[in-house]
Amino acid sequence: MDEVDQRTAQRTATIEQARELPPGARHYRAYVGNPASYDATSAAQFTLMIALGLREDHKLLDIGCGSLCGGRLFIPYLRANRYYGIEPEAWLVEDGIANEVGRDLERMKRPVFRHVDDFSATEFGVSFDFALAQSVLTHVSRGQLERCLAQVSQCLAPEGLFAASFYDDGEAMYEGDAWVYPKFASYSVGYVAEKARQNGLAAFPLVWANSYDHYWMVFAHEGQADRVPWLGAVDGHPRMVRILELTRQLNDANREHAMTRRRLEQAESEISALRQGEPDT
Ligand SMILES: C[S@@+](CC[C@H](N)C(=O)[O-])C[C@H]1O[C@@H](n2cnc3c(N)ncnc32)[C@H](O)[C@@H]1O
Repeated sequence: MDEVDQRTAQRTATIEQARELPPGARHYRAYVGNPASYDATSAAQFTLMIALGLREDHKLLDIGCGSLCGGRLFIPYLRANRYYGIEPEAWLVEDGIANEVGRDLERMKRPVFRHVDDFSATEFGVSFDFALAQSVLTHVSRGQLERCLAQVSQCLAPEGLFAASFYDDGEAMYEGDAWVYPKFASYSVGYVAEKARQNGLAAFPLVWANSYDHYWMVFAHEGQADRVPWLGAVDGHPRMVRILELTRQLNDANREHAMTRRRLEQAESEISALRQGEPDT
């Protein structure tokens, strides 16, 4: 199969077939991450924004909205004209609407998209109550990170909140000047918080479910996050480092648990196959 045929086959694969594809493959569920956890990733970003206070009248900016993994829950929840997505890969949004949202709901809720890679959120001309970047700033260059924070700072309402996931492997930070994918760009909490501060945003660490060893930060204009009492300010590295350690331990334990379960299932099925071959007593 040549490359074009392979891409077509991947794009038209069923959801069951897509679960076997590697992250980054050309299916709308695989291109944006692990296709086997697409549903859990939808749920994690939706519940986070609800916990932060997202209501149906609010306007939400979904940066790097991909195939509407989050959008498939946000679009029905929000009233019309309130979901805005930025996504350079137009085909992802098309496939997300075709397979997850549906044309009727699109007509009813009128989500708005910009297919650009320069984070130009201000071009929507909207003041956003909430913004989200799930698994996007985990792949950006330093320049892109700054551009994103600068843009969000300008279009986030005075009381708005911006939630974004990040990656930190504890090693050297990413120095490249381009988007890196499906690999990750590592940035420390301190670096991200400082870049946010330079753009007039305060940064708050957050422990929230994700299956990728990522950490979450919530950003708000200075002095505006007090109404979310469970957000704690970044008061130095030790607290955040501990949160990251625990998040990693939790993710490792979950993975080990899943592997042990698989080994048990294999052993059980092997035993039952062997028993079927036992002579009757
Ligand atoms: C790992 S996926 C996550 C997608 C989505 N947020 C989700 O939860 O499934 C990263 C997304 O960012 C998009 N992307 C790449 N470069 C971008 C840029 N410069 N600005 C915004 N999004 C970008 C990719 O096309 C992809 O859809």
